[in-house]
Amino acid sequence: MKLQLFTLTNQNNMKVTITNLGGRVVSIFVPDKNGKMVDVALGYDNLQCYLKDNEPYFGAIIGRYGNRIAKGKFSLGNKEYRLEINNGPNALHGGSDGFHNKVWQAEQIDDHVLILGLFSPDGEGGYPGNLNVKVTYSLTPENALKIDYEAETDKKTIINLTNHSYFNLDGEGNLSISDHVLTIDADHIVEVDETAIATGNLLTVENTPFDFRKPKSIGNHIDDEHQQIRFGQGYDHTFVFNKKEGLEKVASIYSDKTGINLDVFTEEPGLQLYTGNFLDGKDKDGKNGNPYPHRSGFCLETQHFPDSPNQPNFPSTVLNVGETYNTTTIYQFGIHQ
Ligand code: BGC
Repeated sequence: MKLQLFTLTNQNNMKVTITNLGGRVVSIFVPDKNGKMVDVALGYDNLQCYLKDNEPYFGAIIGRYGNRIAKGKFSLGNKEYRLEINNGPNALHGGSDGFHNKVWQAEQIDDHVLILGLFSPDGEGGYPGNLNVKVTYSLTPENALKIDYEAETDKKTIINLTNHSYFNLDGEGNLSISDHVLTIDADHIVEVDETAIATGNLLTVENTPFDFRKPKSIGNHIDDEHQQIRFGQGYDHTFVFNKKEGLEKVASIYSDKTGINLDVFTEEPGLQLYTGNFLDGKDKDGKNGNPYPHRSGFCLETQHFPDSPNQPNFPSTVLNVGETYNTTTIYQFGIHQ
């Protein structure tokens, strides 16, 4: 199948481009406070670059399981499944041939809606069940990029889909996201060990660098002497929302420079705040020749918690036969008031 680039537009001249390779969001042009269109998504001009080794999952749909599964092992019933170990001792983001690298079926419905489909056969990447996945990207008149995820299986399996867009609200190619002001409605984070695997404990954010319950610049405490910050080399943690269920606003972030604000709504129980700690600026293929240095983009990956298949107290990521996995996340752009 050939690689294609689709363009969604709306009546406010907002423009989002998405490729069928990994279902990746390639660019998001939104108006800044002066009405100038700014591309707030990191990525590549050349679609082939997304296939490079060690590519940082720019804009990608992540599956079958976003984030890490300890030692790449989990059990369903009395059967143990083994996944590719691709991140230290653990499995990360569905393995090296995860959904981020697949060429998806694509159907653009109109200027605003793109539907992507993927069939992932039983056993692929070590996961059980023939899985049919559908992801619908919609650009709304309110300048929101809405992502609806759906999946069905013919064998009990696990699933945790997310989108791995890196944003910089000053515009991609700008150097740092430290001045972005972030709010997350979360009293807890998922504690991780030195291999970034969930320990099973939730930590209160009170008096820690993780307290974003009131607006705070990302850079304020990102290098604090705190064990969790050290393990993540910055923020690379799942925040546990205070909301119980339903599609609700869970996070907001803005930049004073452009005035651009991003609100995140989701049905998921958590989000991985990842502050681009492993970007290093060495990749010279960024859009317009831009290198993407350390912490020049942030991800707000709405998802279930890491390693849930091995953590009985976490919300379940099991998908049974006859059920439909169905979850929505909305990235809503506006101007900070
Ligand atoms: C993970 C990081 C990882 C990054 C890959 C994030 O979702 O939490 O640990 O390095 O993806 O680019």
